[in-house]
Amino acid sequence: MSIAVAHPNIALVKYWGKRDDALMLPATGSLSLTLDIFPTTTRVDVDPTAEGDVITFDGEPATGPVAQRITAFLELVRALSGSTASARVDTRNSVPTGAGLASSASGFAALAVAAADAYGLDLDQRALSRLARRGSGSACRSIIGGTAIWHAGTDDATSFAEPIDGPELGMVIAVVDDRAKAVSSREAMRRTRDTSPYAEAWEQAAGADLVAMQEAFARRDIPAIGELTESNALRMHAAIMAARPPIRYLAPQSIALFDAADRMRAHGLQAYATADAGPNVAFLCAADDVDIVRDALTTDIPAGRLIAAHAGAGARLVEAPA
Ligand code: PMV
Repeated sequence: MSIAVAHPNIALVKYWGKRDDALMLPATGSLSLTLDIFPTTTRVDVDPTAEGDVITFDGEPATGPVAQRITAFLELVRALSGSTASARVDTRNSVPTGAGLASSASGFAALAVAAADAYGLDLDQRALSRLARRGSGSACRSIIGGTAIWHAGTDDATSFAEPIDGPELGMVIAVVDDRAKAVSSREAMRRTRDTSPYAEAWEQAAGADLVAMQEAFARRDIPAIGELTESNALRMHAAIMAARPPIRYLAPQSIALFDAADRMRAHGLQAYATADAGPNVAFLCAADDVDIVRDALTTDIPAGRLIAAHAGAGARLVEAPA
């Protein structure tokens, strides 16, 4: 019995676009904060008597694409371990799945750690990050606690996340809509690459943003980190919106929340907005400012839809389900 817990991460410099779909190599590197909220808990038992993997997702038997994706991932682990035995997988998210709240990141990070242990692989953090990447790109960063940089790399061995030193950061998540998104990030990335006239410009800008972000981290310069975070997110969404058929992840309320970040800064509060592949908005701030930022946002969105978060632990094995 192997049980692992992992948390979602939110990118400050986004990963959007692959250079290799099979190996899940990103077009550009990215940088993120792993949070201490919305854990995924995943249990894996190797069961040589089972005919095929038996997968339970949030208490229900998993079928279709969800089950296929998990089985495809287990095939990688079996190939690494030389085993042909099936597995029983039980995975539980405490985050709404598919709503741009990074459930695939915590999900595949927890699955990588639990499955590697269940199949007897002894992998260090870098190898676990590379493995998690194969499940969902952003999952390689949830292996790491706190702030992580994912080096784009040029092949399987060189594309992994590792910790990066910087200031103590926190986030406030504003849940605009917790329903699953209409277009998966996988499909949206493909469509952006294939049809958006801004795809190439995005890649160039993201590469430059990552360099500037590393410098801002080294200086522990929160205003510079925040400005890059907000601008990088808007550049990603601009490239996505320009795809055909267009994809608009940001809802009217999401845009209003970017206005709220402007307003907070006009009042001297250093808070910066970002959004992944969905309408929810995350506000980045100094760890000590999280409660003030949350309180300041209650004029924009009900308090019950605001979740305060700090830096969380990387994916790890646990003795029993949380
Ligand atoms: O790893 P995926 O396929 O869930 O893609 C993640 C994409 C974004 O969340 C929008 C950006 C990122 O770097 O996490």
